[in-house]
Amino acid sequence: METLHLSAEKQGDIEKAAQILRQGGLVGIPTETVYGLAADALNGPAVAGIFAAKNRPMDNPLIVHISDLSQWEDLVDGVPENARALAAAYWPGPMTIILPKSEKIPDEVSAGLPTVGVRFPSHPVARAIIRESGCPLAAPSGNLSGRPSPTTAACMAEDMDGRIDAIVDGGPCRVGVESTVVTLATCPPRLLRPGGITLEQLKAVLGEVVVDPAVTQPLEEGKEAPSPGMKYKHYAPKAHVMIVKGALADYCRFVNSHNRPGTAALCFAGEEKLLEVPCVTYGSETDAAKQAHDLFEALRRLDEIGAKTVYARSPGQEGVGLAVYNRLIRAAGFEVLEV
Ligand code: TXA
Ligand code: MG
Repeated sequence: METLHLSAEKQGDIEKAAQILRQGGLVGIPTETVYGLAADALNGPAVAGIFAAKNRPMDNPLIVHISDLSQWEDLVDGVPENARALAAAYWPGPMTIILPKSEKIPDEVSAGLPTVGVRFPSHPVARAIIRESGCPLAAPSGNLSGRPSPTTAACMAEDMDGRIDAIVDGGPCRVGVESTVVTLATCPPRLLRPGGITLEQLKAVLGEVVVDPAVTQPLEEGKEAPSPGMKYKHYAPKAHVMIVKGALADYCRFVNSHNRPGTAALCFAGEEKLLEVPCVTYGSETDAAKQAHDLFEALRRLDEIGAKTVYARSPGQEGVGLAVYNRLIRAAGFEVLEV
């Protein structure tokens, strides 16, 4: 299949994308978090195509994107007061709210769960495509399963060219990591995946919020995943990645004394001059938002330079840092070295 390369800047291209979606096709769309692989959420066979294109395990549910709050009511079995308050505070934006689903949601979307995640993105192009198509859009991140999520149209094309109908270029994504996923189907609410809306922001509206242990730790053997996506290896470049925790001087000493062919550093900007191995940077030590913005492209870049072993500087876990840590620790298969 030839993948059409569309541009949000080009007259008529958003309408073209919307038409493909209405006809049951698959389109890569920009959002403020990462690029998504979209299909009409109410068209079961179209949604099944997403799983095939991504090689996604069939038991991993998709989230549904809307461009107007009124679409939400149709997708879930009632909107409780705390959900309404959360939406009023942070939608449109990088947050997915999980609630019991309505019977309109095809099994392909919910992967057999009784719940569905809904997100109202803030990206103007995402919203225009949803509005034009007239359908809520199921969209996971637009990477092949297990790879870092795409934050530019070019990264998405790397994984999806020849596998889907079209990709709409809307420029690089502002946030750079996927949305915060919070479930209100449990009491108290539970953070399943940290993202651009921070834990502190959720607590400001909801009061108590439980952080699922799988946010920072491997799933316990034999325990059922509260979010199926937690089970799978994620965000991994081809290289063997390890997080190296410690002060900058100790990190540099460690990396420089483990300098073998194929070794690379994933460090913060400005630290390259202290390191004797090839370096890829992701933001600065004190700017978690920039780390989030840069992380996935940095992971792809490590593959491009042929890195085999990667020693990564550890992000903090405050604010958006928790989202950065959550992605990096998965890319590292939970391998952390203390130096
Ligand atoms: O920012 C985002 O959320 C991006 C853009 C495209 O909107 N989408 C995205 O989708 O990251 P995906 O499928 O890559 O990640 C959604 C995560 C998965 O880990 C999935 O297991 C979890 O949310 N999830 C979806 N529906 C769920 C449900 N009903 N209950 C628990 N977890 C759910
Ligand atoms: Mg994903």
